[in-house]
Order: sequence, then C-alpha cells, then structure tokens
Amino acid sequence: MTAPTTDRLAVPDEIARAVMLPSSYADLEGTVFPACDWLRRNLPVGLAQIDGYDPVWLLARHGDIKEALRDADLFHNADANIMLQPMAGDEYLRGMLDGTTKVLRNLSYMEPPEHTEYRRALKPVFEPGAVLKYADRFRRIARDAVDRLLDHDGECDFVATLSMQYPLTAVMETIGVPHEDYRKMLRWTQDTFGGDDPDWKRDEVETSPEAMAKQWHAAVQDFYEYFEVMRSDRLAQPNGDMTSDIVNSHTSSGELLPDIVQNHMAASIAIAGHDTTNSALSAGMLGLIRFPEQLERVRTDLSLAPGLVDESLRYATPAKHFMRNATRDVEFQGAPIKAMDRVMALFVSGNRDESVFPDPYRFDVTRRPNPHLSFSYGPHICLGLHMAKLEMRVLFEELLPRIGKVELAGEPRLKQSSFVSGLKSLPIRFTKA
Ligand code: HEM
Repeated sequence: MTAPTTDRLAVPDEIARAVMLPSSYADLEGTVFPACDWLRRNLPVGLAQIDGYDPVWLLARHGDIKEALRDADLFHNADANIMLQPMAGDEYLRGMLDGTTKVLRNLSYMEPPEHTEYRRALKPVFEPGAVLKYADRFRRIARDAVDRLLDHDGECDFVATLSMQYPLTAVMETIGVPHEDYRKMLRWTQDTFGGDDPDWKRDEVETSPEAMAKQWHAAVQDFYEYFEVMRSDRLAQPNGDMTSDIVNSHTSSGELLPDIVQNHMAASIAIAGHDTTNSALSAGMLGLIRFPEQLERVRTDLSLAPGLVDESLRYATPAKHFMRNATRDVEFQGAPIKAMDRVMALFVSGNRDESVFPDPYRFDVTRRPNPHLSFSYGPHICLGLHMAKLEMRVLFEELLPRIGKVELAGEPRLKQSSFVSGLKSLPIRFTKA
C-alpha cells in the first residue's frame, strides 16, 4: 500500500484555525463544534499548519484519541508543550527553562517509568475512599453557596455567584489554603489558564505570545514560593489536609517525593482543581436550562445526580485538548506520524462523537454509558476525578431541591482559550422551590 501523502491529510486552513485559535473558543458552538464535526466526518487524523504554530496532527474521533492516549511510551506528554500555544510562546519558555517547556515538575510533565512511580505513590491520596473524607466539608460549602445564590432574589450570574466560588473554596480548604489567600490563588490560576483571554491578563497592555508565556511562568513561580512554605510546615506538622497527605507520600522504595515535585503537585491541584470544575458546573446548569425536562427529571429523582455530573462534564469538556508528541515514527490510522511530531487530542471533539454518543448535542442526564473524555484517558487520566465528581454531585444535590424554574437572563459568554475554558458568565433568572 502506498503511504498516504501529508497533502491528502492536510487540514483546510479555516478548520485548523477554528480548532486551534483561542479566539474560536469564545464561539464554541458556532465555530469549534462545526469544525470538529467536519473533522470527524472527513479527516479524523489530519495535519494542521497555521501561521505562528507548530504543525500538529489533530485527533478528532473518540476512538483515535483513546488509542493514542493509552500508549504513554509511544506518545509522550511533554517532550513538547502539553498545551498548544504559538511557537513564540514555546520559544520564550524554552529560553527560560533550559530548552524545555516543562513549567512544572508534576505528573503531567512526566513520562514512564518516572510517571508510573510517582503516580503510584500519590494514588492513595486521591482514591474514591480517600476523598470521601471531604464530603461533609463539600456539603457545608455547597449549602453556603446555594444560600448566597438564593439571596440574589431571582436573578444572578451563575458563574460569579456560585460556580466559580464553590470549587475554589472546596479545593482550597482541601489543600489547606487559608481564606485570605483565595483571591491570590484564583488570580494565579487565571494567569495560567486564561492567558489568552483579554479579561484575564496580568498586564493589560501586553498581548504577545511571549507575554502570555511570561504570565504563565510568573504564576507558576508564585505558586511555587507559596507552597514551599506550606510544604515545610506540613512535613513538620501534618494536619490531615491534602497537602499533608501529598508531602508525606512515599515511593515504593520508601522515599519522600522530591521537594519540587511535592510543591508542584500542590500547585497543580490549586491550578487544575477548580476552574475545571467551575466550567463543568456552569455548563451543566446551561444544559439544564436548555433542556428543562432534564432539570425536572433530576430534581424529582436525585439518584440521577451522578448521571448529571457525567453529562455536565461531557457537555462542558473543561479541558478542550491535551497535546502529545510521538516518540518514534509510526503509522497511526493511515497517517505517517514522525518522531517528535505533535498530536492534539481534541477532547472537545471526542465528546461530541456521534458514533459513541447518540444525539451528541442533546443534554441527557440518563445517558448511559457516558464514556466522556473530559478527564482524558490512559495512564495520565485525571488523578483528581473522584474528588471533582464528588464535589459536583454534592453541589447539585444541594442546589436542585431548592430551585424551581431556571431560565437565561442574558447571553452566556465563553472564555477565549483553547485549553481549559468554559463560561465566564451565565446570567440566570430562577424561582425558589
Ligand atoms: C472537573 C474537574 C476536572 C477536570 C475536567 C480535569 C481534567 C483533567 C485532564 C483532562 C487531565 C489531563 C491528563 C492528560 O495529560 O491526558 C488531568 C490531569 C490531572 N488532574 Fe484533573 N481535572 C479536574 C479536576 C481535578 C482535581 C479536583 C484534581 C486534584 C484534586 C486534579 C488533579 C489532576 C492531576 C494530578 C492530573 C495529572 C495526572 C497525570 O498526569 O498522571 N484534577 N485532569
């Protein structure tokens, strides 16, 4: 068989721009989804080349994404950047980080066998049974959050009033960050994920890719210094919070994890643990507004809450993509992928794959099975997924019995980011139950 030429596999420019450019994600439904639909139907593994970016292989189908991600030896996370950003941004990071783009020494930036070893050491902290110890705390925080929402007398922005604050408080209390530091944590998180959104810039004047990479790097430094103080404290006096459990985790040879890995793990939870959940909760609320019969169903039968959680995660796809790089030449679904070629796993597309999710644009709390890719797949699958699901379930269980009708009170607005993104405002009008 003749090897396919990359010409035949070239992604049309407008499709590539629609899935790669941060600005597209402010118009997810009008721009990104149609491009993903086109890719799944016409070119499920295609090579995208747009100005200012490395060429990347786009993986659009659910099955292909799973196949690539299950093999962490063939497709590494982080020999190149784990997120897509312009070449100039990567160049800036490499200039500062000894030729790599590894901003953190956490699991996301590790490969086997190191990844396997550290993940095994940390797993007990994140297992379903282990995170259950946080359930009462989440319920208290959720009740307070719902009280505050109901104080708004029938109209509010769901994101500003509830979905941003609740997971932030839940995660910060879990890792032991005091209340007065939440604002700082939120700011640093937005600096890491929101680098592309004009509303969320450290320096309002700068908009270059270098400036964005600089913002991301500066935020990581801030996190590091913060957790260095906490790490020493929790080693000396563990108090049962998640940071104490992380810094006291041991490898199979009985060693503590290196200091930098401990700090960067805590930082990555502070970074990854709340904006993602915010995005899933607000998209879930939007789904319930658009499909009011689903709201009615789950409100009258709270045993459907876990289904609502998974459907909200699928509907939102908080992390729109993760990158991988090939470690050797391979023919993948007919595409001649070369060593060090970059691959973009489009979770945002896989989660709308009609061959896996019938009627994929419908929000359905009874969808079963619901094998969404929102937590990724394979050896790097989100370590915090049980905690995130618990947090979301508790919130819905507290919220839904207390509200009646909910409708949109204005246009929802989405963040401009191709990485972790979602609603930045969701104006709602509601009645109390
Ligand atoms: C709705 C909420 C969340 C979503 C959608 C989410 C999504 C993800 C995704 C897509 C990855 C990427 C894995 C890859 O490289 O393929 C990931 C990794 C990770 N997440 Fe989450 N996450 C969420 C919440 C959390 C929470 C609450 C925590 C911690 C308490 C957490 C901790 C981690 C860690 C440690 C990794 C790295 C795993 C590894 O590389 O082995 N996440 N997450």
